[in-house]
Amino acid sequence: MIVERSRTTVAAKTLPAHCYTSPEWFRRELAAIHHRMWLFGGRADELTGPGAYVQRNFGNASVILVRGDDQKVRAFHNVCRHRGTRLVNDESGQCKARFQCKYHAWTYRLDGALDKAFHMEQVDGFNAGDYPLHSVQLEEWGGLLFINFAAEPVPFAQHLAGLDQTFAHWKLGELKCVAKKSYTLQANWKLVISNYHECLHCPTAHPQLNRLSHYLAGDNVPAQPTYLGARMALKPEFQTLSLLDKPPRAPLPGLTDDEQRHVYYYAILPNLLLNAHPDYVVTFRLMPQSETRTDIVVEWLMHPDEVAKPGFDPSDAVDFWHLTNQQDWELSDLAQAGISSLGYQPGPYSNREDLLIAFDRWVLDRLGER
Ligand code: FES
Ligand SMILES: [Fe+2]
Repeated sequence: MIVERSRTTVAAKTLPAHCYTSPEWFRRELAAIHHRMWLFGGRADELTGPGAYVQRNFGNASVILVRGDDQKVRAFHNVCRHRGTRLVNDESGQCKARFQCKYHAWTYRLDGALDKAFHMEQVDGFNAGDYPLHSVQLEEWGGLLFINFAAEPVPFAQHLAGLDQTFAHWKLGELKCVAKKSYTLQANWKLVISNYHECLHCPTAHPQLNRLSHYLAGDNVPAQPTYLGARMALKPEFQTLSLLDKPPRAPLPGLTDDEQRHVYYYAILPNLLLNAHPDYVVTFRLMPQSETRTDIVVEWLMHPDEVAKPGFDPSDAVDFWHLTNQQDWELSDLAQAGISSLGYQPGPYSNREDLLIAFDRWVLDRLGER
């Protein structure tokens, strides 16, 4: 099923090179976007019990997510309150009731309170209660943890903007993570989102995808302040995106017939790509490290009934997306290389790249550049 789009004349062009190559522009994006909006920080079930923690880095912001003795998950800036040393240096770990700074051994409880500050007894006016770890706002939706570095973030419900309803039938909170892969791209984070929201490259780059879902069978939701949404119809003879023609999974219980015939591609700005299939979900966590480097963690979620079946094997879906990811990441790296080259000039968008135009404008709006 090909979805027609109206004709346009050349109006919008791609962004200038500095939006992808300038450290100063990247710093402004962090300040106006990543360090102000709700960021997808990871899965709650990764924090298996009290003291389990993960470290996440978004540009120059480093955050610890940790489960407390009361089972509550909290987020803190990963910065010691003494002389600012990075407190946790592992990507994840299990801490025994206290975080201890490697430098002068100040220790913090799992709720962030400063517990011991050595050699401070004789400092008049020093009060340990004044120096807890700086906390970071945290919310959870369907087992996904979101953090916000802003002092007064927009309410999380406003950020979700009804997407919890859009995806209610997938029951994200019940799904189990069955696979996880990490990637490092030599590409600006915006190129990953732009790549995600058009399929004009699918016939050449992703023959395995185009075989199952025609590249012109996409249907976009008008761009929203906190998300970009699209879905693509599966060809009638296929049930999902898989390397197997007959994937070994039932559709998720509760999906409508219409939902079972589509794959949903949503970017919950600025760093979660949510990819909902009839029988599984894939999340992409984008963590920009610099203007030319983006770390991405991809997780595959499936229904617990499927996971419990003897001989459960998710590799048809994992390998499908791992292959597709490698194809996309190569294109993103090449796009970065070209845009960084002397000969680059902004080029014209197709009428089928409307979400990319909207995304570029959204970035410019956030930075007060339009
Ligand atoms: S910098 Fe952490 S204890 Fe001194
Ligand atoms: Fe792609």
